Parts: sequence; C-alpha cells; structure tokens
Amino acid sequence: MAELVGVYAASHGPLIVRNWSNVRPVDQKNISAAFSELGRRLDAMHPDILIEISPDHWVNFFIDNLPGICVGVGEIHDGPKEPWLKDFPHRTLAGHPELASHIVRTAVERDFEPSISYRLTLDHGFCIPIWKAELDRVPALIPIVLNDIEPPFPSVKRCYAWGAVLAEAIASYPVDVRVAILASGGLSHSIGEPTMGKIDEAFDLECIRRFESSNEHMLVDFLSKELPLVGNGASEIRNWVAAHGAAGGRGFELIHYSPIPEVYVGCGFAAWNLGARA
Ligand SMILES: [Fe+2]
Repeated sequence: MAELVGVYAASHGPLIVRNWSNVRPVDQKNISAAFSELGRRLDAMHPDILIEISPDHWVNFFIDNLPGICVGVGEIHDGPKEPWLKDFPHRTLAGHPELASHIVRTAVERDFEPSISYRLTLDHGFCIPIWKAELDRVPALIPIVLNDIEPPFPSVKRCYAWGAVLAEAIASYPVDVRVAILASGGLSHSIGEPTMGKIDEAFDLECIRRFESSNEHMLVDFLSKELPLVGNGASEIRNWVAAHGAAGGRGFELIHYSPIPEVYVGCGFAAWNLGARA
C-alpha cells in the first residue's frame, strides 16, 4: 500500500526570484537555508510521488472558469510560463495519473467534486519551492490547484477536510509507493490592493503557533476569522490547512519564518510531525 512519508509547506513569493538581488544578505541566507532544509528533509524520505498544493495565479484559469479544486491527472505537466522563471530547469514535469485519478475517485466518494486537468501549466506557485529546495530528484508530481485567489474560496474547514481526503486516498492506494505532500504559499501578504506589501507578523506568529499545536479546531476557527483581514495573499494558507488535514491534525515543526519586506511576504517553511500522534 502507498505510504504518506512527509508533509511540508513553503512560501513561494515571486520576488524570492524576481527581486532576489535586493533582498538583504541575512534574509537571503535564511531563505536559502530554509529551502535547503526543506529539500534535505524531502529527499531523506525518498518519495516516489509528490502531491503539491498551490493556487493558480491566472495561468490555467481565470474568472470565466475558476474551479475550487483542480487535480492534475496528466502524464505530463508543463513548466512555468513566467519569463523570469526561464532558468527553472524543467520544461515539463512527469505526473502520476494513476494516483491522481485514485485521489479524484476517493474525493467523489467523500462528497468532494474536484475538477481535473490532463495538462496543467505549473506557475511560480508550484515551481519556486521545487526549484529552490534543490531536490536530488523531482518525484512524479501531482499538482492540485486550490483556489486561494478569487472569492468565493473553499472554507478553511473544507480545506482541512480536503487534506483528510488526500490522506485517505494515499492510504487506500494499492501500490507500494512513497508519497509526500507540499503546500505552497502564504503566510500573510497583500498583492494589488491598498495594503500591498504589508506583512502582518503578529498574525503569522499566531498562525504558526496554532499549526504547531494539534488542535485543529483552534486553527480552523482562528483562520476562518482572521484570513480575510491580513492581505489577500494570506488566503494561500488554505494550502497549509489542507496539508495539516493530510497530516491528521498533527502539529508541525517550523523550519523558518521571516517577514521579508523586499519579498512582500511573511515567508514560512514547515514540516509536519507525522510520527507524533494527535
Ligand atoms: Fe501566490
């Protein structure tokens, strides 16, 4: 049977790449170290398949066609279109249609109706963490787009339940493969709105504190109230909530957090403690 071997989260602010030269050296060092540590931990678990949860930043979808959840079930996904990601080392990435389709079937049995795509283009949300973590080998990738971009959003509670569906699908997949999950995005940030560039460090720290605990109700209640108040980009923390649900609500270990003005993002990196029972 398949096994969930690791659950992780990382920020993906585009300015980590686009504005790197203007990031203070101390922050460059911390961000690079955080991505490296994430990559080291992921590599150490030898996953065959990586499920990555990220928003789509208007590359595959727009407001004329905007799924709440879309599972990439294709054999192949395309690399990023953003010109500033031209050095991303993959033009295409291999998918895993069998497990992806099993996830979709499991989801429908659990009263979710995700959309599917046979060929997604992976934007910076998917590509920056994979790239900067410098993985020895990129596992077969199942991208899952979660709409964190444009209301109406999936509720925080629903995102947690979606993560539980992912865990159930992995546990019931009848093939001996090792699977990891990576949530991409967050923490607080504000893009293209009057508060653009604002980072709410107090919120981020409280958010981290609640992810560290294994009380998912405290986390869900807090985020349901606070997410709309801390910048539109903070909505991406929904992906972390899905990861938390996949990890059975076990707390996570923070790898690193820094609010970085040059990146406009409260940058966070974490790994869930799968060995510790909630
Ligand atoms: Fe984003």
